[in-house]
Amino acid sequence: MQKENYLPIVIESLIFGKNSDYPLYIKTYEKYVLYRSKALIFSQSDVLRLKNNGVNNLYIRQEDKKKYDEDMINHLNGIISANGISSEDKTVSIYNYSKIYAQYVITTGNLKDTKEQLKQVIETIIEYILVSDLAFINIINLSKYDASEVGHGINVSIYAMALAGRLGFTNKLSLYEIGLAGLTHDIGKLKIPKQLLQKKDLTEEEINEIKKHPIYSKETLIENEFDNSNIINAVVEHHEASNGTGYPYGKIEENISTFGKIIIIANKFDSLARDLPYRIKLEKKDALNNMTLNKELYNNAFLKEFILLIKESDEKMPIVR
Ligand SMILES: [Fe+2]
Repeated sequence: MQKENYLPIVIESLIFGKNSDYPLYIKTYEKYVLYRSKALIFSQSDVLRLKNNGVNNLYIRQEDKKKYDEDMINHLNGIISANGISSEDKTVSIYNYSKIYAQYVITTGNLKDTKEQLKQVIETIIEYILVSDLAFINIINLSKYDASEVGHGINVSIYAMALAGRLGFTNKLSLYEIGLAGLTHDIGKLKIPKQLLQKKDLTEEEINEIKKHPIYSKETLIENEFDNSNIINAVVEHHEASNGTGYPYGKIEENISTFGKIIIIANKFDSLARDLPYRIKLEKKDALNNMTLNKELYNNAFLKEFILLIKESDEKMPIVR
């Protein structure tokens, strides 16, 4: 019997009230079981029912992926150009749709099959989020609530693109490279056993293994035929430090690429501002203070701009309680 290939999709990505042109599957005991034949409308209560039963992903057949991707992009473009949708709602939609692809890439390590969609998602963020103060504020407000690996990838990507924009990188290609580096910087963690990543008391040997993840990220990008050196350098350098105390190579500032210096700052900030198994998250202000106290780790001119970026957007942030 010929084996069919199935791909995970995020349940929230299904367009409510619209029927899909392809069947949806559930995975039980390593088997894919038909959940809905095509043309059945998927509603909000279906999502709740699935989530209550602990189902987070549905699956589609590989051959239907093109249709699914087209649906997603059409829907996203529809939201952006629609009148009568508030900037806040548009940002929420863009964030959620970015998450669909980010989740796929970050949980599977497969960038090849989503190359085009990733590009479109990042370009949408560049065109919509980065040109509007309000949209940027909305998105950083939203990002507070997502401390997952996927949320972290998106956040680093957005912070890095916003910082790059402020530093004068306004051409789309540079912003795309920085955005993709931000999204994929930790993708190499897939090559490290999960138990090790969640473990609290690590041996020296285990720490050294985890510290290899930037190299594994670089390897994953190359395996996926991403050979752009700007992206690869920024990814492999995301834990380096200006004073040479970072890893994996202990590079000093003059040997760290410009995009690397940007990703280092964006990654550190989002890491400090999120919950991790071994640390409670810091408020934005405290995360920035922490970075200022350790400023020898960063490019100081870039750090200064980043602090202004976050402070300015925080001042403009509506107070939500
Ligand atoms: Fe990392």
